Amino acid sequence: MSEPAATERVLATRRDTVRLGRDVARVLQPGDLVLLFGELGAGKTFLARSILRALGVPRETPVASPTFTIVQEYETSRGTLLHVDLYRLRDGDMATELSRLGLRERRAEGALLVVEWADDHEARLGAVALGVSLRLDATPLGRRARLHGPRASELR
Ligand SMILES: Nc1ncnc2c1ncn2[C@@H]1O[C@H](COP(=O)(O)OP(=O)(O)OP(=O)(O)O)[C@@H](O)[C@H]1O
Ligand SMILES: [Mg+2]
Repeated sequence: MSEPAATERVLATRRDTVRLGRDVARVLQPGDLVLLFGELGAGKTFLARSILRALGVPRETPVASPTFTIVQEYETSRGTLLHVDLYRLRDGDMATELSRLGLRERRAEGALLVVEWADDHEARLGAVALGVSLRLDATPLGRRARLHGPRASELR
């Protein structure tokens, strides 16, 4: 009998987050949408970077929140990955902005999407493969990740 899927992980150190990124990378399929939730500094970009490194993006390639460009594109061992930060669009006309970015079309072509700050707009991006809610907590162990969506059950 296999263990029931873990839906919560403690991320006591950065290394745990790197490991989570590796595990996420392993289960991603073309066109998957990954949403990263959590407050400022919760570790969304750190996890996105961990996923990208696990998919072969070298250390010489910087990975930061694409706050100003909104979308940053990477070539990975699993094809194109779009790292998206919707923070700046939160107060605008999100529907128009999102359709202008053409993210659903890119998904349909097989691009992976990893999105920060999708919060109220996730439905506009289509079905979610994996949601990761990161939070800082007051315990000495620091951070936790809650995993949801169909890929969550495939994570080890
Ligand atoms: N266990 C951990 N997992 C992830 N990040 C950690 C951990 N411990 C410490 N950190 C640090 O926390 C910071 C997280 O910053 P990060 O840019 O990933 O946050 P963010 O959620 O993307 O914030 P923003 O909303 O501003 O984009 C990094 O400086 C990272 O080194
Ligand atoms: Mg970020």
